[in-house]
Amino acid sequence: MKITNLGTSTQASFYVATALYKQMLHKKESKLGLATGGTMLDMYESLVTLLDKNQLDVSQVETFNLDEYIGLTAEHPASYHQYMNHILFDQYEGFDPLKCHLPNGAAEDPECEAARYESLLDERGPVDIQILGIGQNGHIGFNEPGTPFDSVTHCVDLTESTIEANSRYFDDKADVPKQAISMGLRSIMKAKRIILLAFGEQKKEAITQLATGNITPDVPATILHLHPNVEVYVDDAAMPDLS
Ligand code: GLP
Repeated sequence: MKITNLGTSTQASFYVATALYKQMLHKKESKLGLATGGTMLDMYESLVTLLDKNQLDVSQVETFNLDEYIGLTAEHPASYHQYMNHILFDQYEGFDPLKCHLPNGAAEDPECEAARYESLLDERGPVDIQILGIGQNGHIGFNEPGTPFDSVTHCVDLTESTIEANSRYFDDKADVPKQAISMGLRSIMKAKRIILLAFGEQKKEAITQLATGNITPDVPATILHLHPNVEVYVDDAAMPDLS
């Protein structure tokens, strides 16, 4: 797997935004697998700029987010629903809300909701491009270390390190949900093309583990070595030492 250093996060974000833009340009009914997190902010901003300047018709595009916190309604300011509205769907007119999917974190029966989401992915997929960030412990989506490689969309108990890392998006660490619904590793692997982005010193260890080539559920992102079409883009700070 090639890990490409694109220098700065701004450059890498623009590069990946362009990949998504081109995908939608060439296939009106593209299916995009979308990720949240701080890493993606500049990428979505660049994407909105590209869409806006070129007035691309995105009405046929269908999107599938990786995950959502259990217990947060779509209106909760820290929910991934709100993140996506704020950063993309409210920024560029034309996305069809009925085609923009996230798991429902407020569902009465989260297990049932996870099964519904996996069926939706099976019916509507496969995804053309899946965008991924990475957790400091190597998680992708919310697939924490130890998640089986054959997992489908499921309910997850978040690890202490993920709760700690994500507490910056909440007023209080105590407000961070302890569980989430996440696409599983097998669900992610069904995408035709996968692009992972990682920026900053705090991601260097996870990217170094990915670069070693060992494939282990202890570092969930290493499953990507088994996918034929994966690109990994990092900035200077997240680039492993190659010596
Ligand atoms: C969260 C998300 C992941 C994301 C990761 C990194 O836990 N579920 O999809 O990749 O954290 O987030 P950030 O980009 O904020 O570091």
